[in-house]
Amino acid sequence: MSAEYQVNGNVAVITMKNPPVNGLGHATRSAIVEGMKQALNDDAIKAIIITGAGKAFSGGADIKEFNSPKAFAEPSLHTVINVIENSSKPVIAAIHTVCMGGGLELALGCNYRVATAGALIALPEVKLGILPGAGGTQRLPRILGLEMALNMIVSGTPVTSEKLAKTALFNEMIEGDLLQGALAFAAKVADVRPLPRVRDIKINYPNYEAFLQFSRNTVRAMSGPFPAPLKCVEAVAAAVTKKFDDGIKVERDLFLELVQTTESKALRHAFFGERAASKIPDVPEDTPLRAIKSVAVIGAGTMGGGIAMNFANAGIPVQILEMKQEALDKGLATIRKNYENTLKKGKLTQEKFDQRIALITGTMSYEEIGQADIVIEAVFEEMGVKEQVFKKLDQVMKPGAILASNTSTLDVDVIASFTKRPEDVIGTHFFSPANVMKLLEIVRGKKTAKDVLATTLALSKKIKKTGVVSGVCDGFIGNRMIEQYSRQAGFLLEEGCTPEQVDKAVEKLGFAMGPFRMGDLAGNDIGWSIRKRRYIDKPEITYSKTADLLCEMGRYGQKTGAGWYDYKPGDRKAYPSQLVNDMIIQHSADLGIERRKITDQEIAERLIFSLVNEGAYILEEGIATRASDIDMVYLTGYGFPLHRGGPMFYADTVGLPNVIMAMEKYAKGRHGDAWKVAPLLAKLAAEGKSFN
Ligand code: 3HC
Ligand code: NAI
Repeated sequence: MSAEYQVNGNVAVITMKNPPVNGLGHATRSAIVEGMKQALNDDAIKAIIITGAGKAFSGGADIKEFNSPKAFAEPSLHTVINVIENSSKPVIAAIHTVCMGGGLELALGCNYRVATAGALIALPEVKLGILPGAGGTQRLPRILGLEMALNMIVSGTPVTSEKLAKTALFNEMIEGDLLQGALAFAAKVADVRPLPRVRDIKINYPNYEAFLQFSRNTVRAMSGPFPAPLKCVEAVAAAVTKKFDDGIKVERDLFLELVQTTESKALRHAFFGERAASKIPDVPEDTPLRAIKSVAVIGAGTMGGGIAMNFANAGIPVQILEMKQEALDKGLATIRKNYENTLKKGKLTQEKFDQRIALITGTMSYEEIGQADIVIEAVFEEMGVKEQVFKKLDQVMKPGAILASNTSTLDVDVIASFTKRPEDVIGTHFFSPANVMKLLEIVRGKKTAKDVLATTLALSKKIKKTGVVSGVCDGFIGNRMIEQYSRQAGFLLEEGCTPEQVDKAVEKLGFAMGPFRMGDLAGNDIGWSIRKRRYIDKPEITYSKTADLLCEMGRYGQKTGAGWYDYKPGDRKAYPSQLVNDMIIQHSADLGIERRKITDQEIAERLIFSLVNEGAYILEEGIATRASDIDMVYLTGYGFPLHRGGPMFYADTVGLPNVIMAMEKYAKGRHGDAWKVAPLLAKLAAEGKSFN
């Protein structure tokens, strides 16, 4: 039973009980209908209250049931709401904490709504690529008015109950105990007839056609590849132009259409992927956490400064340690400048600015940071320097402090071995700019303690990052995969493409930036120095030397005013470079390659499937816990288009046998060795299964 029925005097109280957020799954829906029947059949009952146990009224339909027969099994949410709306006794929704999606739709089916302050009210379906499918698009405009309802439905953004206190949505705001307040309210309305119903309200908006047209235009321009926002407008339009029951039919059809779209499936995948990432199979959810009340960062360079800002933004004091006063001053000045820019843009109040600046302090003394609960090292990417730093940290840090490294390529187990407490060592791989990018790869060393891992995952949430755990390997999840993608990009240049053609082909898929524009932004010299180091001891790995030639020309990217593209001063636009294109053609000639015309499809497949194949190896080796973790890395750290759900999800939508067929085709071309199908990919395809 996932709702409880109780009687309080002459009032029946139905309390939804489906933790964590009282999702309206089949069992909960059935229990509400049962409760309603019981109350209606009991002559002693004069009114009915519906509320939710725990930390929500209701978070809405149970998303986990979507695409399963349970989602539409009777009683459907429509049926539940019909039973409530046709009740002969007044039904009151007693709302608190979270009232979203189907939860709000259920409340709109009630005759009255009372709420406590601070409850989050939303129809967030659009964020899952769907629209409110249980009458929300028809009832909310009736009670809140066309404009406010449309804004809430198209944006999905929660509004607090106190902001809506003066609207017709709430009949009363309850101070103090919600149930007592709702019971007192019930006593007042128990005998009032006729029972008010939201469906009977007339929408009065004289110039609605012009408003709807304006909304369509605006929403179309803003919704990119996602179909749901525009469909939301269509459904709301039906609330104004059609009779209630006909409007409901329009909403239902649009809902069923949207729920099947890949875009919606991708958004739901990302929703659950984000939450799944924080669950590690062998780390119990109740693992006691270490308290993190202060942070130290070693190195005030590009990464150290950004990392420190994350903690200050979360209200946690952070010390930054540098070797030289000059470097420290420079780092602190950059942080201040970043905050000043945000202040100037009006995105930060003066008070918050002052608070954050005050939370960040500099030091050159290791002794001063010894009491920090976690220290994050972000010094030069050289094992020798890391060794010095970690040996020192081992001496000065208090017992129980977490020792983290922001290394992007080095072996965290080796770094841990520089200390006498490898169980306290972990990798925290932030992405640049560290104060902006959502991804945090958390690198679990062989000896990392479970509570260190659990604490770091919790900390990532606190600083609003998507924490994804990776095992130790060269490049961890993200960069190990991107290496294969970059290799293909390089080969494509040798075989016939220009950088512009490659970039456009993936940008057409929805990538924020193609590999060459990305290289110019990040600095081509970074990859150059990594290649020099890495390929010395891995001569078996083939890669295109075009990028090295580019760097030898001094074209490091935007920072040198020239990279794969030309740049004009003060302009970030990438202009195709004749010089570079000539260099690429010459390089092909030097290699004896006859350049050919390459289709956008081949470009896209070679880039994405190379990610997928490496992802399959990573999964098989246990470097990533689950396919959705890999997708989260790519969605939050590498600009992979959200509506395609990440590389592994994308491969699932293409069909794994199709992925393999394409790979086998490319295996016959140059560097066919890059296309050795990962055993896990082959196995899943053979079994008719998918990654997710
Ligand atoms: N269905 C099933 N599970 C849900 C859920 C839902 N609607 N909403 C949240 N959950 C689960 C999460 O998966 C998570 O599970 P886990 O602990 O096993 O990982 C747990 O609830 C807690 O979620 P959060 O970590 O997000 O907790 P927060 O306290 O930060 O946020 C929340 C709570 C605001 C409710 C947030 O979870 C949220 O925004 N949920 C989505 C709400 C939503 O989109 N509702 C619309 C559903 S679609 C619908 O109603 C269709 C209808 O129109 C027909
Ligand atoms: P950086 O060169 O900008 O900054 C390094 C800073 O460390 C410098 O300010 C230097 O003075 C300081 N430093 C060097 N040795 C020190 C020591 N012994 N004690 C104290 N301070 C010392 O380098 P960046 O880019 O910030 O990189 C730092 C780390 O982060 C590296 O491990 C790098 O691989 C990693 N990383 C870098 C990313 C990037 O995009 N730049 C992305 C992700 C990780």
